[in-house]
Amino acid sequence: VPVIDVGAIIQDVTSPAANQAVQSIAAAASEWGFFQVVNHGVPGSLIDATWRETAGFFDRPASVKDAIMRTRDNPWGYYNNELTKNQRDKKEVFDYTTDGVDPIYASENRWPDVNDSFRQTLRAYRDAVTDLSHALLRAFCVGLDLPAGFMQSDFSKRHTGFIRLNYYPVRDPLEAANVEALPVADLGVHHHTDAGALTVLMQDDVGGLQVFRDGYWHNVEPTPGAFVINTGDMMQVWSNDIYQAAIHRVLAMEHTDRYSIPFFFNPTADTSVSPLPSVVSDERPARYKTINWSEFRGKRTDGDYADYGPEVQVAQYRI
Ligand code: OGA
Ligand code: NI
Repeated sequence: VPVIDVGAIIQDVTSPAANQAVQSIAAAASEWGFFQVVNHGVPGSLIDATWRETAGFFDRPASVKDAIMRTRDNPWGYYNNELTKNQRDKKEVFDYTTDGVDPIYASENRWPDVNDSFRQTLRAYRDAVTDLSHALLRAFCVGLDLPAGFMQSDFSKRHTGFIRLNYYPVRDPLEAANVEALPVADLGVHHHTDAGALTVLMQDDVGGLQVFRDGYWHNVEPTPGAFVINTGDMMQVWSNDIYQAAIHRVLAMEHTDRYSIPFFFNPTADTSVSPLPSVVSDERPARYKTINWSEFRGKRTDGDYADYGPEVQVAQYRI
């Protein structure tokens, strides 16, 4: 998985200095669907504080976490019984999004009853990775021969991105819980693609994230100070299959607990996603029908919460 210096992109994606990084991102997004970025502009102090708050939260007693348990109607808050492809993942998560009533679920963040610094730090972190995501989005556009700001309006009013704090314990997170659950998984997260545009993920130094390419699982090596970026289903559709939404998974932890923090950068609720003009031609017609983002996302979220039948995939929208 390539490591790319994005310093020049953060400054000005259209500058000559940014050109090489833009080309590297386009190549990585099409060959791997995954890359890592350094020189990304997110302050180290904010990253350190975010890790501290994350570990502190999962360390709280079950009563604090159970009080903000996710429900089918409101996906925000804590969960320890998540399914991917209808199998139970060996993990605990905390999900939060933009402030206020979110436009897809008409529901608000559930914050734990803990020190104020938890909220403040996580909001600051969310805003920092949102800025980085906008810069990466501009690079994805230039890489498709589009003006840098071409997709901005699909994200700027109110994007539906969210952050997930992932905790992968060695023990089964449901071992002491009195709930109906599938047997514990042999994976931290089962193989999947992310549904949205792009994901900005911070992982600790334990390792376990793997991406599938050419018939093999490849480790995404922990790289100090780097973010892992991967393209999601909507980016694959927008790019008409030029950028790949790569299949990935996380191994189950056997010896050391692991933490990771993805930001899933998603368009506004009313966005209609279809292949963009620069990637559709007579020789390469549109490969997908239009997808309504809120509908797609709503279906995927249901499948994560519990088994409501086969998971929705972009392949179902192929022409
Ligand atoms: C996810 C995911 C990877 C990781 O939460 O969608 O793929 O390294 N996480 O935790
Ligand atoms: Ni993922």
